[in-house]
Amino acid sequence: QAQDAAAGEKVFTKCKACHVADEDKNKIGPSLHGVIGRTAGTHPDFKYSEAMVAAGTSGVKWDEPTLASYLHDPKAMVKGTKMVFPGLKKDEDVANVIAYLKQFSP
Ligand code: HEM
Repeated sequence: QAQDAAAGEKVFTKCKACHVADEDKNKIGPSLHGVIGRTAGTHPDFKYSEAMVAAGTSGVKWDEPTLASYLHDPKAMVKGTKMVFPGLKKDEDVANVIAYLKQFSP
């Protein structure tokens, strides 16, 4: 599937109340700077739900498939997550927001 980071930046307006990606700053949600390749629940200065820490402990690492699953339906993938966001319905939006996030990850 084609990815469009500029379109993803528009999708990211839905995330901005709680997240930044272009710098390492936590808000209501953890910084998404460098999130790709990061183990779930491991930003050092953010207080995660037990569920998110457990996901990381059990081996969830944020890559394209795991992010796609979480962003489609956060509560289905990480039962007990404290991210209050219903999820993105369109595959296209998910792919594009991941392309946007990639710009700020190694
Ligand atoms: C966690 C992405 C929208 C609040 C996360 C994580 C990702 C993510 C990847 C896991 C990060 C990690 O493990 O370090 C996104 C994206 C969004 C979005 C791409 C938009 C499409 C939101 C919104 C809110 C929010 C709107 C607030 C209303 C949180 C919180 C966590 C979190 C509180 C920590 C969850 C926990 O500890 O269980 N988000 N998010 N997010 N997000 Fe979001």
